Amino acid sequence: MVRKLNFYPGPATLPVSVLEKIQIEMQDFQGTGMSILEISHRSDAFEKCLARAKQNLRDIMDIPNDYEIIFVGGGASTQFAMIPMNFLGDDQTADYVCTGEWAQKAIKEAKLFGKVNTAASSEKESFRYIPKEFKFTADARYVHITTNNTVYGSQWHTFPETGAVPLFADMSSDIMSHKVDIRKFSLIYAGAQKNLGPAGVTVVIIRKNLLERVVPNRKIPTMLQYKTHVEKDSLYNTPPVFAIYVIALVTDWTKQIGGLAKIEELGQQKAKLVYDTIDAYPEFYRGMIDKDSRSKMNATFRLPTEELEKKFASEAEARGFLGLKGHRSVGGMRISMYNAMTVDGIQALCAFMHEFVKKHK
Ligand SMILES: Cc1ncc(COP(=O)(O)O)c(C=O)c1O
Repeated sequence: MVRKLNFYPGPATLPVSVLEKIQIEMQDFQGTGMSILEISHRSDAFEKCLARAKQNLRDIMDIPNDYEIIFVGGGASTQFAMIPMNFLGDDQTADYVCTGEWAQKAIKEAKLFGKVNTAASSEKESFRYIPKEFKFTADARYVHITTNNTVYGSQWHTFPETGAVPLFADMSSDIMSHKVDIRKFSLIYAGAQKNLGPAGVTVVIIRKNLLERVVPNRKIPTMLQYKTHVEKDSLYNTPPVFAIYVIALVTDWTKQIGGLAKIEELGQQKAKLVYDTIDAYPEFYRGMIDKDSRSKMNATFRLPTEELEKKFASEAEARGFLGLKGHRSVGGMRISMYNAMTVDGIQALCAFMHEFVKKHK
């Protein structure tokens, strides 16, 4: 078997050592005589695994003890609704910064529960930058940002000052990729399927006293209350057992290779390789995002014609480089380079990009 290089925007590539470990443990998870797919979520073996996943995340991301880490189902998209359902009253306002398609979806859900003020938006300019000026509401319930815009390929490099207003972030596509001061945020959520593990689980990091700000008297289904999952340590119902297990393995791997400092260093190397290649041929590869807003996770660019873009995707695929077509709403190309993508993989892709220019310009 030859493994291809997965540049998809998510689900993303996983470390090979993690896949091997899953294979080894598949028939007998830690001496239980059963696979992880079969054991009870209330078993000692799984509870230890869940605790390890949590502790690893806490250690790697330096998450303070007054924050709870929970694992929930429904993808990051369910968080778009769960956040306003819990924290935005009918007549209250939440501030959202609109930096792309996922932010738009979060705004759409928030409008179902309360008022939304779009504090800034780069929509009119095809989301090619992260806004630097904001019109925040003084008594907003919270400010919501999307730290990395997977579709457009932009990323926040400094976070807005929101004073006493809690800052919430969708970090689905750049969580655990670089050092972040968790204390700046009151709530962080991320679908696991890019930097943390497989699809099926969403990690929520929530400041415990935020629960005091839940909208009073609103009838919220038990499963959609943060309180439920915090109080029951993610075991109110059957959680996504396999996905949590893989997070434990991916975070073990992250620690083994040198933690967040190493991940960040490798991420910088990978992004530099990619953007240097794009910038070496300004007549041929045209980056879609302003340089100071470029993402270290997803690099987007266009070629001179759509014909060449199709050729780029098909020639890349023939070489084993998969998932390079841009999002259908944007077009062009996108290179996703999450934590488990190797520097070697990126070097191979960049070599192909150089060759492609020579062949087709
Ligand atoms: C930034 C961001 N937010 C939210 C989502 C939606 O995540 P999910 O598919 O887990 O609902 C994605 C998916 O790619 C994303 O990239």
